[in-house]
Amino acid sequence: MKLRIVVLPGDGIGPEVTKQAVAVLQAVSDVCGYEFRFESHRIGGAAIEQDDTPLPERTLAACLEADAVLLGAVGAKKFDGLTGEKRPEVGLLALRQALGGFANLRPVKAYEALGDCSPLREDVTRGTDILIVRELLGGLYFAQPRALNEDGLSAYNTMRYHVDEIERVAHVAFREARHRKRLVTSVDKANVLETSQLWRRTVTALAKDYPDVQLEHAYVDSFSMQLVTTPARYDVVLTENLFGDILSDEAAVISGSLGMLASASVGGKVELYEPVHGSAPDIAGKSMANPFGAIQSAAMLLRYTAGLYHESDKIMQAVDRTLARGLVTPDLSGRRKRASVPTDTIGQAVVEAVTDLLQMQMAYHAV
Ligand code: NAD
Ligand code: IPM
Ligand code: MN
Repeated sequence: MKLRIVVLPGDGIGPEVTKQAVAVLQAVSDVCGYEFRFESHRIGGAAIEQDDTPLPERTLAACLEADAVLLGAVGAKKFDGLTGEKRPEVGLLALRQALGGFANLRPVKAYEALGDCSPLREDVTRGTDILIVRELLGGLYFAQPRALNEDGLSAYNTMRYHVDEIERVAHVAFREARHRKRLVTSVDKANVLETSQLWRRTVTALAKDYPDVQLEHAYVDSFSMQLVTTPARYDVVLTENLFGDILSDEAAVISGSLGMLASASVGGKVELYEPVHGSAPDIAGKSMANPFGAIQSAAMLLRYTAGLYHESDKIMQAVDRTLARGLVTPDLSGRRKRASVPTDTIGQAVVEAVTDLLQMQMAYHAV
């Protein structure tokens, strides 16, 4: 097994968390005798400073040549308030578009060891296992026309969806549901928006191809409430770009911290893996960043790009083991007021756990 992985550490805590994710992938590669090659490139604020653009041509070319891209985060205070092309976030959006992954998979679960880390009661969060399927290349994020008028007094964006964009992401959601609890909740605002009326009609028609999967619809306002009152009843949540962005940060509350959430963008030329969180400038450079979201993004890489299901599962088990040992960053101190450890210590613990789990399995098969 050979993999060429382009690593884009980016800004803020991005480099801190991707370092741990790469260490975990390296450990898997060492134990299993695989050849994973890593190549780092600049993106976001780091690239604006060095290359005068948030997505340098070299970075994009390397990503397009890779088997997968692993990204940390972009964004820095310095660039907040700027408009136009020289914003770190513009680089990330251009990269997503160029790589083509239109389905952004964001798993959300309640971790057994972290029940006290959510402000929600444990009896509310227990058993939650959701997959948010966020449409990533359409809607308000990309449709034209858009502008901030020159007089500075008005601005507009366009929410537009074509039926093909809805169908392709809906297929991903229904196919994922077949491997899970076979329930798709499609979230929209069909009581107000035409784009949502098209969304609902299209998803309803497409569901006929999946008679084994149950489909329900929900309005985004009431769904955002139900997500934190009865999260355990959901399975796959299918939604458009902006709703998915907002709902996934809200859903992170169920897991205990935004730092826990991972994502995979699939369906395009090259898959992109990134934690859901941003560059967290408030804690950058302090060894306080939670690397579990980045590490679990690496586990998703092994599953979706390499088909290494077994190794991917072992990373997830290594995460659970590390959490069970009480090793956490300050965001997960919880009501139990756990002492925290530095980002590197967690990465190292996951490396040791995954090495151990994979070696145990190999020893078992050798006898
Ligand atoms: P953020 O996700 O960076 O941080 C929100 C809060 O969560 C902060 O208090 C932060 O300290 C905490 N947090 C986030 N990740 C954490 C982690 N791994 N461990 C511990 N705590 C963590 O969101 P923000 O503050 O709204 O945005 C900061 C910058 O990041 C902005 O420039 C924004 O555009 C950018 N951003 C980038 C991405 C991305 O690159 N994918 C995603 C979201 C936001
Ligand atoms: C995310 C982020 C991005 C988004 C930003 C940084 C462009 O918030 O990945 O959730 O809005 O998609
Ligand atoms: Mn977001």
